[in-house]
Amino acid sequence: MNRRKKKEERIPMKRIISIALLICVFFINGCSVSVKFDDKDAADQEWWQQTIAYEIYVKSFKDSDGDGTGDLNGITSELDHLKELGVGAVWLTPCYVSPQADNGYDIADYYNIDPAYGTMEDMDRLIAEAKKRDIRIVMDLVFNHTSNENEWFKESRSGRDNEKSDWYIWADPKEDGSEPTNWRSIFGGSAWEYDETRGQYYLHTFLPEQPDLNWENPEVRAAVRDVANFWKDKGVGGFRMDAITYIKKPAEYKDGKPDAADGMTGIHSMTANTPGILDYLHEFKSSVQEGSDIFTVGEANGVEADDLKDWIGENGVFDMVFEFGLVNIDLPDETNWCERRKWDLTDLKSFFAESFCVADTAGGWFPVFLENHDQPRSINHFMPESGDREAKAKALATLLLTMRGTPFIMQGEELGFVNVDWPSIDDYEDISTKNHYEFALGEGYSEEEAMEGVHHFSRDSSRTPMQWDASENAGFTSGTPWLPVYPDYKTFNKKSEKEDADSILNYYIALAGLRSEHRELKDGSYEEIMPEDENIVAFIRQNKDSKATVLINFTDEEVTYDTEYVKDADCIMSSNGETQKGKLAPFEAVIYEGSTK
Ligand code: GLC
Repeated sequence: MNRRKKKEERIPMKRIISIALLICVFFINGCSVSVKFDDKDAADQEWWQQTIAYEIYVKSFKDSDGDGTGDLNGITSELDHLKELGVGAVWLTPCYVSPQADNGYDIADYYNIDPAYGTMEDMDRLIAEAKKRDIRIVMDLVFNHTSNENEWFKESRSGRDNEKSDWYIWADPKEDGSEPTNWRSIFGGSAWEYDETRGQYYLHTFLPEQPDLNWENPEVRAAVRDVANFWKDKGVGGFRMDAITYIKKPAEYKDGKPDAADGMTGIHSMTANTPGILDYLHEFKSSVQEGSDIFTVGEANGVEADDLKDWIGENGVFDMVFEFGLVNIDLPDETNWCERRKWDLTDLKSFFAESFCVADTAGGWFPVFLENHDQPRSINHFMPESGDREAKAKALATLLLTMRGTPFIMQGEELGFVNVDWPSIDDYEDISTKNHYEFALGEGYSEEEAMEGVHHFSRDSSRTPMQWDASENAGFTSGTPWLPVYPDYKTFNKKSEKEDADSILNYYIALAGLRSEHRELKDGSYEEIMPEDENIVAFIRQNKDSKATVLINFTDEEVTYDTEYVKDADCIMSSNGETQKGKLAPFEAVIYEGSTK
């Protein structure tokens, strides 16, 4: 049994050092220790900086034809829900033709819609209907890899001398016939798959059904640019760039130091953010984005705070990047779901402080997200187990919608969805969940421990069908849903929550309204206050006309704070209904407008 020792890991030293450096830099520049930025007038902001974004997991949002799978017409029918939430950009998870080995992140044809989701006419209608409501569609571009059923790959694997033979990453076996390196794919198992016809292995950062494209080849770079331009010309508002940090591979393929009992080393440590990657991305930016108002957001796992200035801002390659610091706060090793890191509220606060510091210094901008389709539900992820679910959801909503940056709401987050806790691994659908479970058993964890990891981290939690009403299958489908509807749907659904004035949904709607009325919540500077407090997240948002102070209690107990912070200020929002200066009820969130300490 080769079990790794459990240890109480804290936030890595590298991050602590970089925060310390940032504080020093700000101190030298005459700023206070807390993080403060100059505000930018709303007039100077781009449309995507002022709006709220919303992620739709297409398969689970709304089924219009009874096949149990969400589709584009289903989305079109629910655009008013998004409008009410103040949403101006909707990120769709991939809905292109795909064999669905990874629910669409394995694309067989970038130029067509998967029949399970509809047709290109449905897509055109969705884009147009969304536009009527001032909402722009954001496409998910998966360019690190394709499906193994993509024509490009079929041609590439047909022999060593076809026109696309070099479009993917092919390598000869080692002398003993084994894989070229000991790299473990992100979803588990070797990152190399043998192909009989070519007598070679191909690389797959994720599943064997997701072969990696070879970005060294200029024809590949031109082909993906054509795809992006095709969608840009359709009138979409932006692109989310999937797994983009893996597109550049090292010049030489070498074994890495084994990091687990399987003798392998995670591919992330060997290929993420390889030097030279930015050249490709600059090329992409100039040939796709120039002269248009679309935005790009890169999925940037592996980009450290120190690198951000090269990725976003005036000299960067994207408008925003999804950085993983916050969502990995409790996960020191993404391969191993059984080792959770303990964290304090000051750790959570430091991620915002640090990221914003760097983003703003570089003239960049941040997407604020607490959930996405790969992450646990935020109530389970960031809140203690005890306490009222609705109060916790409202506290998190306040953080999401008042923080500086573009908020990204994950479908269901606005209704207070929580993690699924199905009893057996066989109940889970997500391939990565199953692989993480197997990995844990291989490392010597018990089934119970492995399931604990699954309950906390499984990607199925954020993918259960959207709950529209209290009818059968939560109004998601008239057929059999592809993934079970969460059993709490009779209470937590859009219709019931809409009718309940105190619901999580109505709180989101109120916050979105507040955000548009109080512009400092969009364009104002951000200054952290009470940085040492382990119970309360607190900050000031301020522009030249107004100032808002946000205080959020992250505990299940009443807490107090210095009333000086809200002296002469008026409460404009309390998640509790009523509030008293200097005190916060369990999980209460408040926003004060006016003078502050
Ligand atoms: C990204 C996606 C994830 C997908 C993976 C492979 O991380 O968010 O859902 O499985 O890339 O494309």
